[in-house]
Order: sequence, then C-alpha cells, then structure tokens
Amino acid sequence: MKILGIESSADETAAAVVEEGKKLLSNIVASSLDLHTVYGGIVPEIAARSHLEVIVPVVDEALKTAKTSWDEIDAIAVTYGPGLGGSLLIGLLTARTLAIAKNKPLYGVNHVTAHVYANFLTDKADIPQLAAYRLNEKQPDFPLLALIVSGGHSQLVLFKNHFDYQVLGQTADDAVGEAFDKVAKMLGLPYPGGPSIAKEAQKGDIKAIKLPKAKMSNTYDFSFSGLKTAVLRSAQELAGQDYTFPSSGLPQALTEAQKADIAASFEDTAIQTLIDNLKVAIRQFNPKSIVLAGGVAASQYLRQQIEQHIDQPVLYPDIKLCTDNAAMIAALGYFMATNNQPTADPYSLEIDPGLQM
Ligand code: KG4
Ligand code: ZN
Repeated sequence: MKILGIESSADETAAAVVEEGKKLLSNIVASSLDLHTVYGGIVPEIAARSHLEVIVPVVDEALKTAKTSWDEIDAIAVTYGPGLGGSLLIGLLTARTLAIAKNKPLYGVNHVTAHVYANFLTDKADIPQLAAYRLNEKQPDFPLLALIVSGGHSQLVLFKNHFDYQVLGQTADDAVGEAFDKVAKMLGLPYPGGPSIAKEAQKGDIKAIKLPKAKMSNTYDFSFSGLKTAVLRSAQELAGQDYTFPSSGLPQALTEAQKADIAASFEDTAIQTLIDNLKVAIRQFNPKSIVLAGGVAASQYLRQQIEQHIDQPVLYPDIKLCTDNAAMIAALGYFMATNNQPTADPYSLEIDPGLQM
C-alpha cells in the first residue's frame, strides 16, 4: 500500500510517498523559512502565499522521486490541523481536489500525532535523495511513551495501541520550541530559535545563570512561560538595567559572553524540564518503547542529555523527519487505513486549526 502524504500546517510545504507505513520512497520539503527569518517568526500571510506557489510542484516531485504513478497510489493523507488556518487550507484543498480527480480515498491527519509516526519509518528506497537519512532499525512497540516537542506543542502521550492513547501532560502556556524562539529573539539570534540557541550555547556555561524549573500540580504538565520571564529578568540584570528595560534593547546591551551564558543556561533548564517529566513517566508506565518527536527532538543537546539520564533506549527520527514533513503524515495515513479509521469526505473535509490530540 502506497500513501501520498501532504503537509502545509506552518511554513513547510511538503509531500511524500510512503509504502506500508514504513518505507520512505520520497520526502520533499519546500520551506518559506528564509522569508520569515527577518521578522523573527512565521508571517501567516507569507506562509500561505508560498504554499500556494509551490504545492503543485512539490506533489509532482514527491511522485517523481518515488518513481510512483498515480495508479499506484492507494490513498492520500493530509494534515487538517492543528496549524495556521491559511496554511492548512492550501494543503487540504489540494488533497481534496486530488482525491476527487484521481478517485483516491482521503484521510485527514492530526499533525501532532503524525510527528510520533516519523518513528515508524524504518526503511527507504535506494535513491541518492534519501541516502543521508538515518532511520530507526525497527518500529516502536506498544505501550509507547512519546515526548512530542515542537514549536506549537509540548506533551507526553502514552499509546496503548494505534489510536488508543492518553495525553499524560501538556504545556500550560508556551510550547518548548516557542520558548526557544522567544529567548532567541531576546538575544538577537535568528529564527528558528532552537538551532540558533544551540549554536550560541556551545560558547557559554550552563551554570552561569540560575533559572527556575516550573513545578506543576500534574507531574506530567509543562510550563515554559515562567522560564522565559526569568531569562528576561536575568538578561536585564546582567545588562545593568532594571525590569522596565525593553527586551528589544537587550541584543545591544549584552556582551557576547553574556549572551552565550544565557543561551546555555536556558537550553539546559528547558531540556532538563523535559527529561524530568519523561523520567517520571517511564518509571510509572514502564513502556516498551520511548520515542521523541517534533522539531525540538532535533536538539543534539536533548539527545545527549537523554543518553546520560535515561537508561532505556530512546528512539528519535532523523533530523529531517523531526521538523515538519509529509512522510510522517503518510505513515500515520497508512495506519489509519489499516486500522479501520474512517476516510474523510473529499467534498467536505474542513481544516481544524485548534485540533487537539
Ligand atoms: O515540529 P516543528 O518543525 O513545527 C511545529 O510543528 O511547531 O518544530 C519547530 C520548532 C521551532 O520552535 C524550533 O525552534 C524548534 O522546533 N527546533 C529546535 C531545534 N531545531 C528546531 N529546538 C531545539 N533545538 C533544535 N536543534
Ligand atoms: Zn510540527
């Protein structure tokens, strides 16, 4: 069974073909990231416009790279939420149109759940475009504990089986990736904040600044808004200013060494917060597999700290499959198709920007 996946929830326009929910045949991602960097975040109107410009060539390229004709496609899977409304619409309308024109079953996919399914990709076509991908050796087993950490989400989810899961905890305010993006902005570092904080942090000392880890009433919940404010207060203090000093003035007021120390201390605190919750959940639920998913799972520091603090093996997707992509959408689409999940009506499937797991 070959599934064509389509994804357009944020700034990546993506299409991919996946066979049997595990074999990657193509993974095409066009990003409008460069257009947003100057603004320090995604500009929804720019994102929607660039999806519109590239979606058709991206889908064509996914089929061509996969050496797959329309006849060989068994179903189309598309992200219908959560995400930016204007962005979601472009992918969804493309998928609906193709499902009608090519007479294919259509599956509406939850983007956040799909991040987890990047870990189910264990095989790939023998083509140059996929040569650099490092895939998990085998698919995860159930019960599966997933830490989903991205620009929009931070949650711990326990899957008893496909489509039978329990959200153990989630963020009460900012997502962890969002905190990286906001702290990066405070330090005058480019968007997205994850990679730029990581680079800056290498020059700094994680112990230089004492930052708080939020304590939540539900053990598995997260909060990153207090940490972000604590970073701001420390930065203002280091700059010799009071709390009324605007964050926009900080990149000029801080020395390079101070910025590096702030980045390192923040990165360490944010990552340790994730690991603390993960550890408690592993102890309580004793999962057969533990997986990381989402853009923040690309963090080398997170991977390194997990290796130090967690004894069990932890699976993570290749970096190119951590950030937004359509291979994860196609993989989840396959499991929907093979686990009696309902198909969507191509004439009426709507976007759901606030969709939850
Ligand atoms: O999953 P994703 O591509 O989009 C969402 O669904 O949100 O995640 C993007 C997020 C951004 O906030 C970015 O700062 C973060 O992932 N990110 C990282 C790293 N690479 C990307 N965070 C920490 N360390 C990284 N290396
Ligand atoms: Zn995502």
